[in-house]
Amino acid sequence: MEYLEVNGGKILKGEVLISGSKNAAFPVLSACLLIEGKCHIKNIPNILDVKKFLFQLKKIGVNVLEGEHEVEIDASSSFKPEIPPEETENIRGTQTLLGAFIARHMKASIAGLGGCNIGKRPIDQHIKGLESLGVEISWDKGILKAHSPKGLKGNKIFLDMPSVGATENIILASVFAEGETIIENAAREPEIKDLINFLNLAGANIEVNGTGSTIVVHGVKKLKPVKYSIIPDRIEAATYLILAGLTKGKIKIKNTLPYHLEAVIMKLKEIGLDVSVNENEITASYKGKLLPTSVKTLPYPGFPTDVQSQILTLLTLANGSSVVTETVFENRFRIVDDLLKMGANIRVEGISAFITGVKELKPSVVTAKDLRGGMSLLLATLSAKGTSKVLEPVHIDRGYESYIEKIKGLGGDVERKNS
Ligand code: EPZ
Repeated sequence: MEYLEVNGGKILKGEVLISGSKNAAFPVLSACLLIEGKCHIKNIPNILDVKKFLFQLKKIGVNVLEGEHEVEIDASSSFKPEIPPEETENIRGTQTLLGAFIARHMKASIAGLGGCNIGKRPIDQHIKGLESLGVEISWDKGILKAHSPKGLKGNKIFLDMPSVGATENIILASVFAEGETIIENAAREPEIKDLINFLNLAGANIEVNGTGSTIVVHGVKKLKPVKYSIIPDRIEAATYLILAGLTKGKIKIKNTLPYHLEAVIMKLKEIGLDVSVNENEITASYKGKLLPTSVKTLPYPGFPTDVQSQILTLLTLANGSSVVTETVFENRFRIVDDLLKMGANIRVEGISAFITGVKELKPSVVTAKDLRGGMSLLLATLSAKGTSKVLEPVHIDRGYESYIEKIKGLGGDVERKNS
């Protein structure tokens, strides 16, 4: 069984190059399926979930040419809009295949949508939106079957909550719909903007109103192949800034977009880190102590839920009492037990974690259970003086490109081992 062996307690200093955004890659790569021709997508992160997704696209008949950080996708010939149960592991996070399949083939058959280890992750909002466009949806032993016999017709949709995936799927499904589709209470994450920018470059006609929570998709007939570079990963960026605080060091992240990280930067300053921004670089430095604070995760532009585990871990070392409230997912405090093993003082009540800071974390054997929680535990072991182990690092492999090399580049001592 694979694990990471960490010799923690070192002060980490140096620079990290941020990779392309995992959560922008999936919708943009899905959108390539709407285009009959060769699309060239750059700044693709070299991570497990993207590799599995591209493998799946090849299996359904899409031509995929992979480079280290770029992909050429040619969906000219018609492909099979079906993902069978045995392949769902290969499309984690890529629920946007649903909208893409429907836009291109007016039908889809996808197993394993929704449901994962940070919460139920229902797709009722996706279904509500697609049905309002004329899609008929049914379930056959856990497989979602969708088809639109009379084509797709634009409509007005009001989302119950600003779901990222539902917004992306409705945008994709409505690109070729007849007339206008208005999405109210749409998600405003930068990854949505990236998808819209890509689609408009390819000839779609999508408008976003002032604050971004109203999106209007004017149906078009066809899209043309384009070259596009996706945005950097704001969650990876936040993760390495927090690592500076946890290891009392100084870390500069490069190739990032600071305006995507305003809520995170404000919070890190409240906690007492020195954070300086310079064009597409951000530097975080530990300034002698960490201050307690309260954090509440919210849809963008609020504090991102994908940085909740990381900031929770940082606050275990703040001198005082902090509260972290998770309003987006219902089961995202899974790292607390492992942090308690490392000597943290945390009490979870409902959707909040109450933390009393301790002087330091102790080395231990911890187990990654999901992507962001797993990386947060790795950060914790890099902070704790002594030798720790992080079991099941495959969860981290899913979404952080070359994290072992990047951490070693900062002076961290981490090795992947096999027992
Ligand atoms: C995307 O997931 C991201 N994944 C998540 O990142 C991120 O945490 C999340 O957005 C919120 O920002 C990808 O982009 C691949 P949602 P998504 O639909 O689209 C509920 C990571 O670590 N909901 O905005 O699934 C849902 O249960 C991952 O990179 C419904 O109730 O998130 C959740 O509680 C983790 N019904 C909340 O809304 C629906 O139909 C937000 O979900 C859809 C969602």
